[in-house]
Amino acid sequence: MEMYVDSANLEEIRQAQTLGLADGVTTNPTLLAKEGDDPMAMLQEICKLVQGPVHAEVLSLDYEGMLKEGRELAKMADNVVVKIPMLKAGLQAAKAFRAEGIPTNLTLIFSPGQAILAAKAGATYVCPFLGRLDDIGHDGLYLLQQIKSIFKANPDLETRIIAASIRTPGHVVELAQMGIDILTVPSKVLSQLERHPLSDAGIAQFLEDAKKFK
Ligand code: G3P
Repeated sequence: MEMYVDSANLEEIRQAQTLGLADGVTTNPTLLAKEGDDPMAMLQEICKLVQGPVHAEVLSLDYEGMLKEGRELAKMADNVVVKIPMLKAGLQAAKAFRAEGIPTNLTLIFSPGQAILAAKAGATYVCPFLGRLDDIGHDGLYLLQQIKSIFKANPDLETRIIAASIRTPGHVVELAQMGIDILTVPSKVLSQLERHPLSDAGIAQFLEDAKKFK
């Protein structure tokens, strides 16, 4: 199982690296805008910092625009994965990038059908957003289960799954149990995973008792 950092914040990425939790990084325009710097410069920094894949999203919604932007992103560093929104033009672009040897991530996947189309188009990764489905009263984890079983039943589909929009430690545990290829996790959830009140209470108790050493 690989874990990526779902962030464009250099400090958060560095922190995750110290824990072996930065096999890659996913960014999106929202995450880059939060940092307030030049997005291309930020992406370049992230690509230098991280050895694994760095997912950088195109803003164009048309095929030609996606190709132009994606090629520019791919030139930036060897570890760039071009993230493309789930649209007909996005599927066409994924197919073209496949032929050019540029890895892609079809993002904003909300149904198993979309994942099938993305895989058939030759996307290297699909990125289902589970938290956003939960937000509208659907079952995000069930979507991940469906995509996982479709890909398992059809080994000719070589696309890897990146579970995104992870909101809770419970999501991480369920996805790990399912054997999802890659989990991209925000730093808030990483901190929540690390802490447990019984760990804190146990540490405090041990330190207290250590004062009684003779
Ligand atoms: O990687 C996608 C992720 O950043 C979206 O998360 O919490 O905005 O739905 P969220």
